[in-house]
Amino acid sequence: MIGSFEVKKNIYWVGTIDPAKKVFDLVIDSPYGTTYNSYLILDEKRVLIDTTEEKLAKEWLEKIENVIPAEEINYVVINHVEPDHSAGLKLLLEKNPNVTVIATPQAKILLKEVVNRDFNFMPAKDGMELKIGKRTLKFIQMPFWHWPETMMTYLVEDKILFPCDGFGSNYFEESFFYSKIQQKETYWREFWKYFRFVLAPFRKFIIQGLEKLKGLEIEMIAPSHGVIIDTREGIEKAFEVYEEFLKKPRNKIIIAYASAHGNVEKIAKAIHEEIGGELLDLAYASREEVLEKIDSAKAIFFGAPTLNGMTAPQTLEAMILLGLTPDWRGKRIALFGSYGWSGEGIPLLEEVAKKMRLKLYQPSFRVKFAPSEEEIEKAKKWARAFIETP
Ligand SMILES: Cc1cc2nc3c(=O)[nH]c(=O)nc-3n(C[C@H](O)[C@H](O)[C@H](O)COP(=O)(O)O)c2cc1C
Ligand SMILES: [Fe+2]
Ligand SMILES: [Fe+2]
Repeated sequence: MIGSFEVKKNIYWVGTIDPAKKVFDLVIDSPYGTTYNSYLILDEKRVLIDTTEEKLAKEWLEKIENVIPAEEINYVVINHVEPDHSAGLKLLLEKNPNVTVIATPQAKILLKEVVNRDFNFMPAKDGMELKIGKRTLKFIQMPFWHWPETMMTYLVEDKILFPCDGFGSNYFEESFFYSKIQQKETYWREFWKYFRFVLAPFRKFIIQGLEKLKGLEIEMIAPSHGVIIDTREGIEKAFEVYEEFLKKPRNKIIIAYASAHGNVEKIAKAIHEEIGGELLDLAYASREEVLEKIDSAKAIFFGAPTLNGMTAPQTLEAMILLGLTPDWRGKRIALFGSYGWSGEGIPLLEEVAKKMRLKLYQPSFRVKFAPSEEEIEKAKKWARAFIETP
């Protein structure tokens, strides 16, 4: 267990580490686990920024109490209500029911359901400042820098940004600071992944948020997952990684399919031959690869066989992952498949597409077992018609 350490004079890291968290938020593979960073600022007022996950709350509170008694904490800032940062509040309130919670007004409503009790509350309006002694906290509303209620906290005099999920990563080394970690490339990969899965789906809000942050002078980024970024170069790169992704063009045609015995694959290849684009065999692609491909798409073909009265899990998952790509609602898709006798696969995916409010091309294209030469020609015509439909 890593004990508390000073991030800067009188600002302590009192977070927890969860190396067993190999799958984060059920979608990101996180081989290094993650951390729930929490920060304790000692000034005339004592302020906690973010808490920790429920199962590590006891360890977290002990860590705080190694610095000061929990009863002495005046404020706890909850930047984001997702339980990985807010669950610890419940235990803190048991020890110190007088503490005042600072969060956005929207967060209060959600937070009540997390802790299931009353608490003193100060609403953080956008841009509001709070003097805590020599230092000043400034609260910046950042909707959808993961959830709708999310904000960031900026420590004015020290120029430290506490962005919670923003600029976070499922990566850490015991040295914790960007200037000291050894595996920088690995870190940036995990930093990118965290952004891609957690924040990038909210593209419009991320762009707005980045604009808002440009007005701040930032010397340190202290997120609530992973490495603390403490160099100018690191901070610039963090912004760059976000901006680069948001600028990427989305103009490709992707033909994504899963095929147990090659029949769906034959249709996929015929489509490819006819209209070009990029083939993606979903059975052999990682989630990251699937996302990278569908991120770049303006239109997507999804192919699947019927299996056991259902469909291929890979195709279903790829469609669900489409829900994590920016501006995905209304994305143009077409479905193709092969079946043996009952044929539920494509109708099931059609239902999913409708529920996701995708722009589904109709009709879908299906064959029984292996596509005949005639069916291959039909598939090509069908694919062309889809592509030529505005
Ligand atoms: C494990 C398995 C389960 C299947 N279950 C069904 C089924 O419930 N209903 C159906 O219509 N076809 C079913 N099929 C037949 C496939 O949908 C058909 O063989 C299709 O052409 C497979 O396409 P592929 O070669 O691209 O995998 C099943 C095939 C397999 C291998
Ligand atoms: Fe979150
Ligand atoms: Fe988080």
